[in-house]
Amino acid sequence: MAASMAAPPLRAFTVLLLYAAFYYHAAVVSGHGGIGVNYGRVADNIPPPRRSVELIRALGAGSVKIYDANATVLRALAGTHTTVSIMVPNEIIPDIAASAAAADKWVAENLVPYHPATRIKFLLVGNEVLSDYSISASAWPRLVPAMDNLHRSLRNRRITSVKVGTTLAMDALASGAFPRPPSAAAFRADIADAVVRPLLHFLNGTNSYYFVDAYPYFVWALNNRTVPLDYALFRGGGYHYVDPGTGLRYTNLLDEMLDAVALAMAKLGYPRVKLAIAETGWPNGGDYDQIGGNARNAAAYNRNLAARMARNPGTPARPGARMPVFVFSLYNEDLKPGPGTERCWGMYYANGTAVYPIDLTGRRPPSSYPPLPAPGNDVPHKGPIWCVLSENARKEMNETAVGDALAYACGQGNETCDAIQPGKKCFLPNTTAAHASYAFNSYWQQLRKTGATCYFNNLAEQTIKDPSKCPHETPYICCPFGTVLID
Ligand SMILES: *[C@@H]1O[C@H](CO)[C@@H](O)[C@H](O)[C@H]1NC(C)=O
Ligand SMILES: *[C@@H]1O[C@H](CO)[C@@H](O)[C@H](O)[C@H]1NC(C)=O
Ligand SMILES: *[C@@H]1O[C@H](CO)[C@@H](O)[C@H](O)[C@H]1NC(C)=O
Ligand SMILES: *[C@@H]1O[C@H](CO)[C@@H](O)[C@H](O)[C@H]1NC(C)=O
Ligand SMILES: *[C@@H]1O[C@H](CO)[C@@H](O)[C@H](O)[C@H]1NC(C)=O
Ligand SMILES: *[C@@H]1O[C@H](CO)[C@@H](O)[C@H](O)[C@H]1NC(C)=O
Ligand SMILES: *[C@@H]1O[C@H](CO)[C@@H](O)[C@H](O)[C@H]1NC(C)=O
Repeated sequence: MAASMAAPPLRAFTVLLLYAAFYYHAAVVSGHGGIGVNYGRVADNIPPPRRSVELIRALGAGSVKIYDANATVLRALAGTHTTVSIMVPNEIIPDIAASAAAADKWVAENLVPYHPATRIKFLLVGNEVLSDYSISASAWPRLVPAMDNLHRSLRNRRITSVKVGTTLAMDALASGAFPRPPSAAAFRADIADAVVRPLLHFLNGTNSYYFVDAYPYFVWALNNRTVPLDYALFRGGGYHYVDPGTGLRYTNLLDEMLDAVALAMAKLGYPRVKLAIAETGWPNGGDYDQIGGNARNAAAYNRNLAARMARNPGTPARPGARMPVFVFSLYNEDLKPGPGTERCWGMYYANGTAVYPIDLTGRRPPSSYPPLPAPGNDVPHKGPIWCVLSENARKEMNETAVGDALAYACGQGNETCDAIQPGKKCFLPNTTAAHASYAFNSYWQQLRKTGATCYFNNLAEQTIKDPSKCPHETPYICCPFGTVLID
């Protein structure tokens, strides 16, 4: 700007200082500037939206991403500076692709009533659509047409501040989550031409972002013997990786993953489509047969991520690139199925207590936080693990729910529940709780190799205390668990 260029240097400097002071103040007060947070709500025990918005702001998050367009949540965010990303559910992609009117109706009902009081910035069409093979025929070919229709509706309504995108997991790449070297990465053959090329054309043409869900945690866990934990947690520790294809030098795992996506896009002819991180994070807990999920690692990952992103370093292939980033997640979400880590991504427990202090503006130096307890699970657990009725489920015993889970477990595998039939050696004590523990374990020991988890709608948990020894106040199972053992 000519006017400010002409201003005397001293004044320009003062203005800059004032601006910086104001900006810092505004950033801290309003939650401006910090990286974003995913506000997942697959839980039955988390605070209501209004309180959640306060907790989001207390983190210093500049932005929030939700997995729907819930009216109560969007109203709770009105009048805040927090920018918002909303999502079209996977199920309605075919309808929205088929009809411009349906797309416009969705926008009219789910975006227009809240915008701009609620600062909606991204409209994401579907969640990891290209990872769900059950909708490969119905939704994959409809993804970009749906995005097109929504974009057209926004344009017709003169809403120019909302970008349309879609979130994709790392498995959109042929080499999956750990495409090393990044320069060898390419999109999967089944989607590259059919879906990704038109998607990139759309994103490039609308100046939008490729939203990737990128989790160094999973890559490190699977490769715990070869990838150093420090490299995954942005702590370098002397380790680095040089891509033989490009000569680029990597100091952390996330950059490798991001560059793999960037270089795969370039191979399809779109080297300039911007990247956004729709989800990343680190679990604060997990099952005994998992590794590295604890508060100390989670705090290190998320704090270092925030501090790093505040500097906008970009990646080795794209130095200085600015990237919207959303940490997963706001809360530990108790109703998420799967292994224990799935329910432990929160920066808050469900009761609203912080799992560890964190400043998502990234201004607080990571070294200034008080130390967290040393983790016990950074190396794989050795010894037996059992799957039993959880302590919580036992305390709040719901005979119907546990009985249903028991019946389900007994219906899987071979001879799963033979020993707890009347007259058999594990029939006594004849309680639903005791039988459930036996059945959950019997089920899990047989089927875990094929991906079964110790979950049962959150009624089950892993234990390393031999349950046949009745360690609890009331003996809840006194039958030896015969078949149990794990490496
Ligand atoms: C939106 O969220 C509120 C608060 O959690 C909930 O009560 C309501 O049922 C949700 N609305 C829809 C349509 O899911
Ligand atoms: C991507 O967008 C830029 C800027 O609009 C344009 O110059 C370029 O041709 C586009 N690339 C492709 C492959 O369409
Ligand atoms: C640790 O890494 C090995 C392979 O290096 C893998 O087989 C194992 O499953 C990993 N452990 C965990 C708990 O993920
Ligand atoms: C909140 O939940 C956590 C984890 O269950 C617990 O450690 C903490 O004491 C709880 N805080 C309050 C205030 O109840
Ligand atoms: C017990 O479980 C059943 C079946 O899952 C459920 O419908 C019911 O609401 C539960 N009861 C209580 C008190 O939570
Ligand atoms: C059950 O037994 C059948 C026949 O022996 C076998 O093919 C199958 O793998 C067994 N299932 C499990 C879960 O072990
Ligand atoms: C086992 O417990 C169930 C439920 O309380 C009861 O109906 C049944 O009669 C008991 N069976 C024996 C043999 O005690």
